[in-house]
Amino acid sequence: MTLIDPATSLRAAFEAHGQAHVLRHFDALAPSVREAFLAQLGEVDLALVARLAKPATDKPHAETHIRPAPYVALGGNTTDARAAGEALLRAGKVAAFTVAGGQGTRLGWRGPKGTYPATCVTGRPLFRVFAEQIAAAEKRYGCVIPWYIMTSPLNDADTQAFFRDNNWFGRNPADTFMFPQGTMPSVTFDGKLMLETPSSLAVNPDGHGGAIRALHASGAMEDMRARGIEQMSYFQVDNPLVRIADPVFLGLHTQPAHSSGEMSSKMVAKRDAAEKVGVFCDVGGRTGVVEYSDMPAELTNAVDAQGKLRFNAGSIAIHTISLAFLERLASGGEDGTFALPFHRAKKKVPYWCDAQGKTVEPAEPNATKFEAFIFDALALAAKSLVMETARVEEFAPIKNASGDDSPASSHQIQSNRHGAWLEKFGVRVPRRPNGDVNARIEILAETALEANDLADASLPREIKAGEDVVL
Ligand code: UTP
Repeated sequence: MTLIDPATSLRAAFEAHGQAHVLRHFDALAPSVREAFLAQLGEVDLALVARLAKPATDKPHAETHIRPAPYVALGGNTTDARAAGEALLRAGKVAAFTVAGGQGTRLGWRGPKGTYPATCVTGRPLFRVFAEQIAAAEKRYGCVIPWYIMTSPLNDADTQAFFRDNNWFGRNPADTFMFPQGTMPSVTFDGKLMLETPSSLAVNPDGHGGAIRALHASGAMEDMRARGIEQMSYFQVDNPLVRIADPVFLGLHTQPAHSSGEMSSKMVAKRDAAEKVGVFCDVGGRTGVVEYSDMPAELTNAVDAQGKLRFNAGSIAIHTISLAFLERLASGGEDGTFALPFHRAKKKVPYWCDAQGKTVEPAEPNATKFEAFIFDALALAAKSLVMETARVEEFAPIKNASGDDSPASSHQIQSNRHGAWLEKFGVRVPRRPNGDVNARIEILAETALEANDLADASLPREIKAGEDVVL
């Protein structure tokens, strides 16, 4: 029997797919470098890349298929839902899950985004904000809320180091489960794989939808099953106001009248038609998020008889997902994509330039990245609930260095939320003519997870204009 050298068989496969150019420096590489490169090449699903690289044939959604998704509006009676959610928490059946594998290119922070100093007075990093909130909920409900964190191969080591350096924020390290997501190779606009260096492909994390694959491959799902977890509170790393394991949301999600208990979502009313967020829609009888760019303009701008946007349910990427549903998704979809499709995006991807002998940062988008989106799983749930929440209560994302969704806008929303909580208990809070709170107010999770928790707190009678307050 002749053994075929792995490099030879890989080269044949890459040649067969017209991708052998990525091996052009191979013979000049040191043996130790070759091994790592071969391992990376071996992971590429060439047939999948070939299929995805074909020009998109997706058509914009037609008006007939798409209607506003129904949602549970703010202001209803939530007593029963809260009780059901609290019972789940007390029974230790709820986990927290942060997707933190993104590259955070828009913010431009050097390091994982979860290490960004996010709060408006003390500058607590995002990971600390979440750790403190989880700890406060654990104390309240007398339970352990295991925390799963998806990193990427690009930021996993730095994220691990940050947790170690911060002594795991006082948590038992055994209850924090960190794992890197998978990657997808980027391709040029004519479908060619790209080198980032002579011995590595240009790859990107495979999107937050990669969570399904990574939760499974890392053993996180198995770990949840062993712990008796039933529901997972899903949130993004960039929103310091997220209410993790919200009992009302958990309760509604598990009430059969509202939902199949598989995957539910929170929404906020869109600020205006132009706001660039995905919108919850009913697409052919299933709940889904239609991205801003895919929405026909006449639907984006459509208003009802009262002049209210018809498609106003903006997605804020907060979900409750059951373990059973995750397991079903992970048990196989088409083409190894774990049931979620890949989306294409034109991006600036650094690439190796032979002529210059270095990695070049392109000035314009030069490549297609493939990413899966978690909200595509919604369409696979039998009955999916959308719950409205107030923007000021739960949504202050930090995505850009300035302008909308920046640290500055997030700080203002944080102060607005905490100012409103204090006003509820009679504290005088200074406001600007536009309604914004004119002070920086931070309320720590150990003090209050929601406004009513302040009922027993000792509060100031008044906040002064421009004051910094931490409670
Ligand atoms: P964004 O879409 O805001 O992307 O991610 P990003 O990569 O963080 O930032 P930009 O676009 O490069 O500026 C939304 C959430 O999904 C996570 C992010 O960490 C963030 O919590 N995410 C995104 C992943 O976990 N993996 C990915 O591959 C992409």
